[in-house]
Amino acid sequence: MTDLVLVLGVLAASAVGLWAWRRWRPVSFWYGVGFPARAVLVYLTWHHVASGCRLTRNRRRLRFTLDAVPVVGSASRSAATVVEQKRRVRRVDVERAPRLGVLRPTRLGWRMRLRLHDGQVPADYEKAAEGIAHAWRVHSVRVVDVRPGFVTLWATLRDPLVDVVAEPETGELLRVRPGKLENGRDWVIDFRTVPHWINAGATQSGKSNLANALIKGLAPQPVALVGFDLKGGVEFTPYAPRLSALATTRQESVDLLADLVGEVETRMALCRAHGARNVWTLPESRRPVPVVVLVDEVAELFLMADKSEKDQIARTATALLRLAQLGRAFAVYLVVCGQRIGSDLGPGVTALRAQLSGRVCHRVNDPETANMTLGDLDPAAEDAARAIPAETPGVCVVADQDGSWHRARSVYVPESTAEQAAHDYAHLTPDWDALIGSVPTARPAA
Ligand SMILES: Nc1ncnc2c1ncn2[C@@H]1O[C@H](COP(=O)(O)OP(=O)(O)O)[C@@H](O)[C@H]1O
Ligand SMILES: [Mg+2]
Repeated sequence: MTDLVLVLGVLAASAVGLWAWRRWRPVSFWYGVGFPARAVLVYLTWHHVASGCRLTRNRRRLRFTLDAVPVVGSASRSAATVVEQKRRVRRVDVERAPRLGVLRPTRLGWRMRLRLHDGQVPADYEKAAEGIAHAWRVHSVRVVDVRPGFVTLWATLRDPLVDVVAEPETGELLRVRPGKLENGRDWVIDFRTVPHWINAGATQSGKSNLANALIKGLAPQPVALVGFDLKGGVEFTPYAPRLSALATTRQESVDLLADLVGEVETRMALCRAHGARNVWTLPESRRPVPVVVLVDEVAELFLMADKSEKDQIARTATALLRLAQLGRAFAVYLVVCGQRIGSDLGPGVTALRAQLSGRVCHRVNDPETANMTLGDLDPAAEDAARAIPAETPGVCVVADQDGSWHRARSVYVPESTAEQAAHDYAHLTPDWDALIGSVPTARPAA
């Protein structure tokens, strides 16, 4: 009796200890207890899970079987035939699961490499991922890395995008960390790697929040910010102290775009004069200040109130396309926000979209918007964007030109925070007239 009490006491104490460990030291609990237990379970159940998700293959194998063989010429006179058990080698079908590699823990789950069966492709695993996630009772399973003959699966226990907290900025030039990726890493927008971005989504999906995050992240950096806000300037006017230029009417936007194209051409001439391919290979003293152009609702730039605006709109389209084509080399970067960025807006929009290689797609109301934003990259990304629920504004699918994509969420940056940053760093705002006139006119006589 006392033994039983002792055993129960020890069990209860261990349970409380584990609970407390998990409660107060969740990270070490995960690596010390949670992950090893999960790993054992994954290995033990893998055959079953793979079979349920149709990832197994039947292989013919040679196996010993015990067969009943009638004994010929038996001495027995009875009606029954005498049989003898004989070992025989037979070919039988054996179900084989794909071979699992070593499970490696991550902060939010684990990753593991799998060896594909002959004839399997990574897409088979993408299709099976949801089933595997349910079988493992985890939030999601994604195919993250593909090598010839192998795929890596990434399992996450819970959605890391429910609570996204701000990380301090690193202060690297033209790099902003607006939020988190689904794999728990920082979401990085690096304009020097991916110069131009589309920021698409329905109203209330988090587009302006991302713009706020970008303004907050870029405000302390030595860059010029330029805004286009044809919805009467309500979105960007509060940030005016940190904006070098802001266009709120059609005429202003045509003029500002002309300035920007002129600036790009001046930079081009400067680079040519120095034998440089882009502004980053110029001597530092001659390097012009990078310009990040934010366009609030791109449809407004293309909206025609009457025929007289046709010419202005055509010029707008041409100028934007030119900026997108040349901007990378000459440090002029575009972030184009909009509910839809499709050919229905006007001529030239499809060509513009093709130049904007960074894509952010928030929740969408119609499948076409997801298709316009992500469809030319990866159909799976498009499906993920369509599945974003309304309750989680700021959640989006981020893709860049190398074809990889992630679910992500921006950190909540209310207007007041971005406005505060614009005020705090107003002294860093390059003067627009000085900026477009500042680059020495090294243009050689044509
Ligand atoms: N990353 C986020 N985290 C939490 N809430 C957000 C986030 N992004 C947006 N929101 C909320 O959603 C609302 C709408 O976002 P907003 O950026 O104005 O959408 P849009 O510009 O697409 O219409 C915001 O007022 C804010 O309350
Ligand atoms: Mg908005």
